[in-house]
Amino acid sequence: MKKVNIETSFTVFENIQELPQDVQILMEKAITVRKNAYAPYSKFRVGAALMLDNNQIVVGSNQENAAYPSGLCAERVTIFQAGSIYPEAKILKLAISAASDVNLTKSPIPPCGACRQSISEYEFKQNTPIEIYFMGEEGSIYKSDSIKNLLPLTFDKNFL
Ligand code: THU
Repeated sequence: MKKVNIETSFTVFENIQELPQDVQILMEKAITVRKNAYAPYSKFRVGAALMLDNNQIVVGSNQENAAYPSGLCAERVTIFQAGSIYPEAKILKLAISAASDVNLTKSPIPPCGACRQSISEYEFKQNTPIEIYFMGEEGSIYKSDSIKNLLPLTFDKNFL
C-alpha cells in the first residue's frame, strides 16, 4: 500500500486591477453578463466570459428553471456557446464572477463539479490548458493555470 499526494496550485490576485489587462477586460465582461442571470430560485448569479485563440470573447450567465435540474450553470452556458459558434477555436482564458442577491460574497467562488468536468472535456479536445480566473462579488481572484488544478483525477475519453 502507498499513499499518493497530488499537488494543486493557484495564483491569488488581490483585486481586479492586479490582473493582466486582457483578463481585467474578461472579468469585467463576466461581471456585466452576471447581471443577466436568470436566477429567480437561488438568487445566485454567475457570469462567465472566455477568450478564444481567434480573439473572440464569448459570455454567458446561469439560467434556471422551475424544474431545477433543467437549469444550467454560467460556465457551461458559455463554453457550450463557444463550442457551438467556433468549434475549431481553442479556449485560452475563462473568467467567472459569482454574486448572491441576498449575501455579499467576498471569497472566490470556484466552478461546480459538473462545470469542471465540462471544462476538462474542452482541455482534452484542444490539448492546451485553459486559464481559469474566479472571484465572488468582491475580494481576491484565484487563477488556476489549467482545469487540472481544480479536477486532478479527471475522467476522460481515454477510459472509454
Ligand atoms: N451556478 C453556476 O452558474 N456555476 C457554478 O459553478 C455553480 C452554480 C449556478 C447554478 C444555479 O443557477 C445557481 O448558481 C445556484 O446553484
